[in-house]
This record gives sequence, structure tokens and C-alpha cells, in this order.
Amino acid sequence: MDAPNLDALTRDALDYYLFPLATKQDMRTDGPMIFSSAEGMEITDAGGKTYLDMMSTQTRASSLGYGQERIARAIYDQLMSLHYAGTFANVADTTIRLSAKIADLAPGSLTATVFAGSGSEANEMSIKLAKQYHAAKGDKPRAHKIISRWDSYHGATMGVIGSTDYLGTRAITEPGVPGFSRIPAPSLYRTPFGMDPSEVCDFCVDFLEQHIVHEGPETVAAFIAEPVMQGDGVQVPPDDYFPRVREVCDKYDVLLIGDEVICGFGRTGRWFALEHWGVECDIMSTAKAITAGYFPLGASTASRKVADALPVFTHVQTYNGHPGACAAALATIDILESDNLIERAAETGTYFLDGMQRLRDLPVVGDVRGLGMWTCIDFTCDKKTKAPFTDDTVKAITRRMADLGVLGGEEGTAIEFGPALIATREMVDRCVDVAEQAIREVMADRDLG
Ligand SMILES: Cc1ncc(COP(=O)(O)O)c(C=O)c1O
Repeated sequence: MDAPNLDALTRDALDYYLFPLATKQDMRTDGPMIFSSAEGMEITDAGGKTYLDMMSTQTRASSLGYGQERIARAIYDQLMSLHYAGTFANVADTTIRLSAKIADLAPGSLTATVFAGSGSEANEMSIKLAKQYHAAKGDKPRAHKIISRWDSYHGATMGVIGSTDYLGTRAITEPGVPGFSRIPAPSLYRTPFGMDPSEVCDFCVDFLEQHIVHEGPETVAAFIAEPVMQGDGVQVPPDDYFPRVREVCDKYDVLLIGDEVICGFGRTGRWFALEHWGVECDIMSTAKAITAGYFPLGASTASRKVADALPVFTHVQTYNGHPGACAAALATIDILESDNLIERAAETGTYFLDGMQRLRDLPVVGDVRGLGMWTCIDFTCDKKTKAPFTDDTVKAITRRMADLGVLGGEEGTAIEFGPALIATREMVDRCVDVAEQAIREVMADRDLG
């Protein structure tokens, strides 16, 4: 095969490919990143440049790195033995095995899973489960409203996008499905209305309760939340937040949907992030790391209470529980277990975050935070007011890091790192060194600090 020609591929990409979210102008000036191969933690573009990938392929999906033969082999073997088994009353044995495995791993009584192809669809199904639960149970038959949070991201399909706030994807689709509303989230660096961080938890929990009361508790089906929010970089909530959210939800018979699409399957150093606070949700959405990015798969797992209340889950898609995807997930889980990767991610993640703390001394670094193998550097042009940069400084630092051979993710005001769980201490050391070098160089170029 001829070596890929980066210029020709770039021209074709601009003509023939619709880049999601990236502007045409940015694609023309900065160019897309077109990748051709990868191995371990390294990915190589079509021009032959190799990068240390500290973002698990931008979306944090590739949580086991590249070239995992066990997963590829499991998909191949599955497709050759039974590539598809239909849907509704039909199912492959592999799909059932994965359902049972998730029930085994998931906290508490989270038991029964329905599968689809993405995180957005997982949340669509979680929301449908919540509405159908109330309709079937009969105590709140009108419950249909979904509450989410400012800066949340729950997906881009036309239903669930009503709960999404981050990335500016919602406005252009409006008016969407009725019944969605959003409340403040417990961010601790740039806090809601600039309040003291010590006030954030009470404020956000009280807001949730007041919001439910004002919407009419009998109309509210569920509250959906990312355990650790991605918006503007790894927003770890105060410790009391989710236990108290759980109490408020229980008080008003509002289901709690845990959107573990990023966090689930090890990202935060636990199988599922709500475990950090001992909280069990009623419905859990997962995707991304469930197959380590080797096959598209989303899952919505209902608690026993929800599953038992439903005489039928009224929903169907052709590829619900695709055997190839489920085989990929089983192999992924097998690697996580046999290689002790979640414990290792917790340890390396702590080391990573500790190592990053020195960056706080830089004049443009406002905050450094993280949980497990998920960290970020949040930037400010004024440490006192915590004002974010309104120009392209964060993007310039991310680009400079890429020039220096390390991929991070520009995440609003922050640069985020969500490497595969196999990342070593040497790799995270290199990432911190390169981040520091890139920040210093961009500061010098722009006369900052
Ligand atoms: C927390 C969360 N929920 C849902 C989604 C949507 O997943 P997908 O892009 O697979 O549809 C994402 C995607 O980034 C996410 O981060």
C-alpha cells in the first residue's frame, strides 16, 4: 500500500468529510489531525508524526490504549461465530453474558441492562426508562420532566440534547423535546455566582430541591448528572453533594440517573465514579470505556426497583446488544480485571495529579484538579478574579503540547488529560514536563505574567 499523503488526505477531508463540531475555518487554518496507526499509548498521524496520547483518543474512549489484540480477537471470533442475533425477543448468548457481568460489577441493585451504540443513546434509554417507570408504577403517572445541570454534557441526539448544556450544541436544535430544565452544578473553582466554595454544596442541593418543588414533584421523572463533570475540565463535586442529592431525589420520588459515560469502567480509579461517595443511582448510563473504544457500545442499566416495575420496556433498535460490541466489552472487562488496571489507574492517577501541582505556581494556571486517571489544568488571565482567557491562549497551549509530541484535550477554560489506564509514571512525568514547557513558551510569546 502507498504511504499516506497527508496533504492529499487533508484536501479530501476538507471536501468530503463533515467534521462534527470543528469549524470549517479552524479546519482550514489549523488542519484536521488525520491518524493512520497506533500502538500502546502512541498514535501516529498520516504524516508520520507520533504523539503520546494523554486523552485516550480525544474522547477518553480508548481506555486500554491501542493494539489490544485480545479485544480485536474477541470481536473477530464473535463475528465469525454469530455476528448478529436480531433484537426484541432475540438475543445472543454473549449479550446475556455481558448483562450478567455488568450486574455483577455495578454497585448495589443495578441489575438489568439494555444496550445501544453510544453514550447519547445510553442516556436516551435511561430517560425513557425513568419515564416508563413512573407511568408503570402509577404513583406519579404524569412524571416526564428531566432536570440536569448547567455545563453538563449528556449527548447530542435530539432527545437527550435537551439535558446537555456544554459545548453549545443545544441552541441550534431548539425547540427540542419538552420537559428539560437545568440547575447550577457544584463547580468548586469558578463557583456558581462566585460564591465561597464552602457554600457550593448547600446551594446546589437546595437549588435542586426548590427546582423540583417549583416544577411540581409529580411531574419530575429524573435528575441526571455526570458524577464528575467534564465541562471546563474534571469538576469533582464536594463529598457531600451526591449523598444529599440522593436524599432529595428519594424525598420526591425522582429517579437519579448516573451518567457514567466518561467515568464508568475505571476512569476515576473505581469501576463507577459514584462509588467514591457511596451513592447508588437508579439508572446508570455507560459507553466509551465499556469497550475501550474498540467497538461502539452504550448501555443503560436499571436498578431492580426500576426493572421490576416495568411490564415491558417500550423501546427497540436494530442493533440493541450487538454481539460484536458485547464481545469487545467482555474482553475489555477481562483485561481490566486480570491486569488490575483500575487499582493501577488509581495509583498512577494520584501520582499524576501530585506531579501536576507544581504548575499552580505558573501565573496563568488557576487550578489543577482531578480524580483517578483524569486530570486537568484550568487557566486564568487573573488569579484573583479567576477570569478565563477569552482569546485562544488555552488552544495555543494545547497545540504547542501537540507540537512537542503530547496530546491533551482543550476543554473550555482548561486542558484535560484522560490517558489510557495503562499509562506509566514515566508517561505522566513527560506529560507534566511538556505541559510546563508549552505553558512557559506560550506565556513568553504572548507576554503573559
Ligand atoms: C458524560 C457523557 N455523556 C454522554 C456522552 C455522549 O456520548 P456519545 O458521544 O457516545 O454519544 C458523552 C460524550 O462525550 C459524555 O461525555
